[in-house]
Amino acid sequence: MQSRVNIENTQAKKLQELVGKTTPLKNASTKFITVTSGKGGVGKSTMSANMAYILSKMGFKVGLFDADIGLANLDVLLNVKTTKNILHVLKGEASLAETIVKIDENLTLIPGESGNEILKYTTEEVLDKFIEDSVQLENFDFVIIDTGAGIGDMVQKFVNASDMTVVITTPDPTAITDAYAMVKVISAKKDRVLMIFNQVGSEKEATLNFEKIEKVAKSKLKPDFSLEFIGHISKDTDIQKSVKGRFLFTKNYPNAKCTSEIEVICRKLAEKMERKMLDANRENGLSGFFKRLIKQF
Ligand SMILES: Nc1ncnc2c1ncn2[C@@H]1O[C@H](COP(=O)(O)OP(=O)(O)OP(=O)(O)O)[C@@H](O)[C@H]1O
Ligand SMILES: [Mg+2]
Repeated sequence: MQSRVNIENTQAKKLQELVGKTTPLKNASTKFITVTSGKGGVGKSTMSANMAYILSKMGFKVGLFDADIGLANLDVLLNVKTTKNILHVLKGEASLAETIVKIDENLTLIPGESGNEILKYTTEEVLDKFIEDSVQLENFDFVIIDTGAGIGDMVQKFVNASDMTVVITTPDPTAITDAYAMVKVISAKKDRVLMIFNQVGSEKEATLNFEKIEKVAKSKLKPDFSLEFIGHISKDTDIQKSVKGRFLFTKNYPNAKCTSEIEVICRKLAEKMERKMLDANRENGLSGFFKRLIKQF
């Protein structure tokens, strides 16, 4: 008979094999990752879109959900036209299939809706139809949710319904203060937050600033809370140009330093999500996600 240690070793080995693979797992349930920040304008939308693209290039099927209907919408950023969004689906005016936009081979944009409007139209009947509809979209490996900045009610709900939260900040002191405030609020409901430093001058600048936040988090937040640094992205004017020019930076500059920095982040993210998958035990897919979201109202 195999001893417990042996079984654990075998499992650990299997896990390492899984994590080491760049090809995604078959039949893995969709993982929902909310990208948020304390301060606005730190690069959530730019990084959500580019991370989604890189994950799709790694072979994962990725949905990019726009939960922020602010100024820089993902559809503008990705240079696609969207006429209908999730709200139309919830109102029964469009099917989910009509609203989604294919961006690239494994990458789909799901135009979202940030407001409490979602609740207004969510009758049981409509929700059932939506759930039925979303079955065709259940095969995403990851759905990246781009939210607005700050601890709004809706952002908190998206965070609660997700499997993982990524907080983006820049090294700017006010951004860091706001990021910490955000992490603190999230820690009331979640045990884990991943952190990305964007627009940094050097890796050192990112790690030193992370260590400062980590220290405060360790002393002030609940003992089982884990704040994890998953990488940095350098400040690069070409990223601004890509936003203005409405193209994906990582697609147009596959060999740029920032692209490899985003690749490092995506590998870490995928690894952390696959580890988490082993203990995943909840309703899957978009329908499961929306059920979790709506239950909070
Ligand atoms: N690494 C970077 N280097 C240089 N500029 C960057 C970088 N990342 C983002 N930017 C620029 O910062 C600006 C804000 O980016 P973005 O719209 O993605 O932020 P956001 O956090 O989504 O903002 P909001 O809070 O308004 O939703 C954009 O003009 C973008 O080009
Ligand atoms: Mg944005």
